Amino acid sequence: MNESTIILNAKGIEKRFAQGDASIEVLGGVDLSLAAGERVAIVGRSGSGKSSLLHVLAGLDDVNQGQIFVAGEPMAAASNDARTALRRKYMGFVYQQHHLLPEFSALENVALPLRLNGLSQTIAEQQSRKLLDRIGLGARVQHLPGELSGGERQRVAVARALIHQPKLVMADEPTGNLDTTSAAELMALMVELSESSGVAFLVVTHDPSMLHQFDRVLTLVDGKLQAVSADDDG
Ligand SMILES: Nc1ncnc2c1ncn2[C@@H]1O[C@H](COP(=O)(O)OP(=O)(O)O)[C@@H](O)[C@H]1O
Ligand SMILES: [Mg+2]
Repeated sequence: MNESTIILNAKGIEKRFAQGDASIEVLGGVDLSLAAGERVAIVGRSGSGKSSLLHVLAGLDDVNQGQIFVAGEPMAAASNDARTALRRKYMGFVYQQHHLLPEFSALENVALPLRLNGLSQTIAEQQSRKLLDRIGLGARVQHLPGELSGGERQRVAVARALIHQPKLVMADEPTGNLDTTSAAELMALMVELSESSGVAFLVVTHDPSMLHQFDRVLTLVDGKLQAVSADDDG
């Protein structure tokens, strides 16, 4: 892999949580490198540390050991402000629960990352309307999250994660609360957007039927990532 095509490079990531006087090791030396536009799935049993891994890779939580580079820029060792800046520039995040702001319309929710990056409301909303149109939600822009279906909410959440043209979108069980059809539609949307925009996706998923759409599938076992061979996913 050419250095310039690597969007995320994590080496020797260790993460422990204090538990009373003891500490439990959740990540025990994770190495992970993602190329531009690559789609990588992470699977693993509940409690294996998948969410913790995404959080540290996004700079939302500290590591105990290891290095993380985002588009070549150091994340793990950076200040909170520098991490926030890196995240706003390069990353988008999709959660299992949509995490949309309930008082904001779909349009305002999608526009928010652009507003935080300093764009005017007019431009931010123009771009957001265009993306919502493109993903089939043009007629829903003024709806509040509570007025949307679960599948629609997750599509808005994906739009919000992509609106600022990040290089990497991380998603933590984004289809976990959806019915089979909505889940398949959401996955298809993420694939389409990654192919058309070159954005890399790092997706934690429990759904084996999704795995064939990824370039690589990794499993988190005993605090380390292992490759799953393509034959294992059916
Ligand atoms: N903030 C925290 N404080 C203490 N323990 C935590 C914290 N977050 C996660 N853990 C523990 O770390 C382990 C991994 O959790 P998590 O990353 O949420 O796993 P997964 O997403 O794979 O289900 C669990 O044992 C969990 O209880
Ligand atoms: Mg989790």
